[in-house]
Amino acid sequence: MNIDGKAVLITGGSRGIGRAAAQAFLEAGARVAINGRTQDSVARAIEAMGGGSRLVAAPGDVATAAGCEAAVAAALAAHGGLDVLVNSAGVFERRPIAESDEAFWDSMMDINVKGTYFCSRAALPALEESGAGSIVNLASIAGLEGYAGVTAYCASKGAIVNLTRAMAIELAPAVRVNCVCPGVIDTDMARLGFSEDGTPRADLDDQAEFHPMKRVGTAEEVAKAILYLASPDAGFITGAALPIDGGVTAGGH
Ligand SMILES: NC(=O)c1ccc[n+]([C@@H]2O[C@H](COP(=O)([O-])OP(=O)(O)OC[C@H]3O[C@@H](n4cnc5c(N)ncnc54)[C@H](O)[C@@H]3O)[C@@H](O)[C@H]2O)c1
Repeated sequence: MNIDGKAVLITGGSRGIGRAAAQAFLEAGARVAINGRTQDSVARAIEAMGGGSRLVAAPGDVATAAGCEAAVAAALAAHGGLDVLVNSAGVFERRPIAESDEAFWDSMMDINVKGTYFCSRAALPALEESGAGSIVNLASIAGLEGYAGVTAYCASKGAIVNLTRAMAIELAPAVRVNCVCPGVIDTDMARLGFSEDGTPRADLDDQAEFHPMKRVGTAEEVAKAILYLASPDAGFITGAALPIDGGVTAGGH
């Protein structure tokens, strides 16, 4: 992948898909800043990933515009510019409409949608200056289809799909904007989100069945697609919503 030396910021990069993406970008020769809500969570992730001069911290709570700006400022301070932004920070919770309150809705929208929007806005001048700026957002199959019990999450991910398209139009040709739409991916989010008792599940076997490929996906599989979409190899792709879902949204169910 033609990404050597590029400067990358990954929100939610301390865990799960974001962390797998950070690893993939590092292996491809990029310089990576990882964001997480707190300084501590990011420092722990950097240590676990083995550190090194190409991996730096960019903490900040993406639920606020100020947190987004802090994360982008830290990445810029370390790398002196920015070529790629991956908006992977997100939350998932199953909750029926009748049991949802305003705080639940606001938190889902603030982290998933507002975070994506304001991190992109903060990164925009640097991405425009890059000459090959690229944003990859984390949507979901829940942004392409409706699922019972996760209405607020579906609304937030549907917003990310269309925000991606609108941003792609507004920012072309300077900055490409795409999103990936994963099915169930084996991360802490899925193991906790599909838990019935609040403790992480030992496996996601029952989630495998509704994917035509009869398994859940891995964070590394999503990371490879993110890396491709961010790279100049995908130079004619913008405004796309790429399912990485083992066939779920192809139909047949
Ligand atoms: N795992 C799945 O099955 C799946 C499927 C489709 C889409 N996604 C999406 O992919 C993205 C990554 O999911 P994941 O499975 O890696 O989840 P995860 O819970 O393992 O990781 C999410 C990361 O986001 C960070 N984060 C959460 N709130 C934040 C905030 N306010 N500020 C900064 N960072 C914050 C967390 O600290 C964590 O590092 C999310 O947007 C998620 O909605 C995941």
